[in-house]
Amino acid sequence: MRELCFLACQISLRPGDFAATFAANEASMHMNNTAQLELDGRAFPLPTTIGTEGEKAIDVSALRNNTGYITLDDGYANTGSCLSRITFIDGEQGILRYRGIPIEELAERSTFIETAFLVIYGHLPTRAELRHFSDLLTENQYLHEDMKYHFQGFPTGAHPMAMLSAMINAASCFDEGLMHWHWGMGREFEVYAARLISQVRTIAAFSYRKSRGLPLIYPKKAYKYTANFLHMMFSCPYEDYDLKPEVVRALDLIFLLHADHEQNCSTATVRMVASSQANLFASASAGVCALWGPLHGGANQAVVEMLQQIHRDGDDGSKFMAATKDKHSGKRLMGFGHRIYKNYDPRAKIIKQACDDILKTLHIADPLLEIAKKLEEAALHDSYFVERKLYPNVDFYSGIIMRAIGIPLEMFPVIFAIGRMPGWIANYREIMEDQKSRIYRPRQVYMGPTLNHFVPIEERT
Ligand SMILES: CC(C)(COP(=O)(O)OP(=O)(O)OC[C@H]1O[C@@H](n2cnc3c(N)ncnc32)[C@H](O)[C@@H]1OP(=O)(O)O)[C@@H](O)C(=O)NCCC(=O)NCCS
Repeated sequence: MRELCFLACQISLRPGDFAATFAANEASMHMNNTAQLELDGRAFPLPTTIGTEGEKAIDVSALRNNTGYITLDDGYANTGSCLSRITFIDGEQGILRYRGIPIEELAERSTFIETAFLVIYGHLPTRAELRHFSDLLTENQYLHEDMKYHFQGFPTGAHPMAMLSAMINAASCFDEGLMHWHWGMGREFEVYAARLISQVRTIAAFSYRKSRGLPLIYPKKAYKYTANFLHMMFSCPYEDYDLKPEVVRALDLIFLLHADHEQNCSTATVRMVASSQANLFASASAGVCALWGPLHGGANQAVVEMLQQIHRDGDDGSKFMAATKDKHSGKRLMGFGHRIYKNYDPRAKIIKQACDDILKTLHIADPLLEIAKKLEEAALHDSYFVERKLYPNVDFYSGIIMRAIGIPLEMFPVIFAIGRMPGWIANYREIMEDQKSRIYRPRQVYMGPTLNHFVPIEERT
């Protein structure tokens, strides 16, 4: 308990922490510039805001009240939904930083758990903080025994993402405290955050075992986070999985590289749900559903399926490349393109190197890697991809690493979800700590029928 108090004090007093610096930063973020909007012959001044890395925004919060107009922004491509202090991306330059620290430095020198702490609490942990965080993860890794009955209810072969989302939400039912907990009840947040990070790994491994009809394997106290996940995935009741340090490190790196990515589809979903004051587990469960689709976290699975298809067809990649440029083919080069990156995704660079390393260590010659490299080379010199600034993203090579480790295809998006958990938790925290936070509720422009009247069924033609 003493340790908990120590951690809570550290967190609230550190510079960079949301609550401590919000007021000071907010004042400095408003620029003197105002934008002028002219509508129906009248001019409306709109305040502007600038972020700490120079990103500029026009504040339209009062637009409808003042003008009667709303903004329309397909896919929210120009909409800033919040002020955030967690992750910075410069898509033009290919820069990604968690709490100011470049992803390259973290990939080389940190671990997933240390990075998770950084993302959630805003600073690198001291030794004592890291030990305390690890202890909390260990203490909270076991699922309530009754949750096993829920796993039994899923058919063998159910997709593990469906189970993951359902079971994260179900886990909240086994914690009376969580149901009644609200922001302001203090340091229990640390416990719930650790519980979510830890249990999501247990749920993910159980989901896989269930989907294969295999006996469940419990976590071991002695193992660290990623080693424990591999143990729960691959050990047998009669024989422990042989934990190779290179394999543990490769998977840990994948988790770390996914830890946060600012306002992507799933994180925005988590914030949306959290804005209604739903609990942390319910918000994360919604994030898993948003992540599942092939345009987002399901892309790693889609990439390997695409490479397998090309391999089966005996194509050297050129036929498939041609199809991805034809809008009527319904095909895309999966693992390429990004809403924000208009340059090489820095995570893809790191993963590509890790992919080469792990395959070499494990003495695996994967024909899919050769196809992937050929596709990349071709795309980087093809005017269709060059003009649209389509580069490999994080999902292009991560699947080949996971395949080499023995992780089955349908688990790829689950691995992404485990990695993204710290980011979702940090964003949940921002919503809860921001006293100005309002429920997320976009508007629409209605394009349906105008006033129409009810016709009794016997009079309808
Ligand atoms: C990530 C993604 C959803 C971003 O979408 P977006 O920002 O809405 O970009 P758009 O779909 O508007 O694409 C812009 C243009 O590039 C094309 N394009 C985008 N990604 C493409 C891809 N992977 N293959 C072929 N063409 C692609 C679009 O067809 C569009 O062409 P147009 O201007 O001639 O109409 C999109 O690039 C994609 O579907 N990529 C593949 C899936 C993937 O890897 N997702 C993981 C992201 S981490």
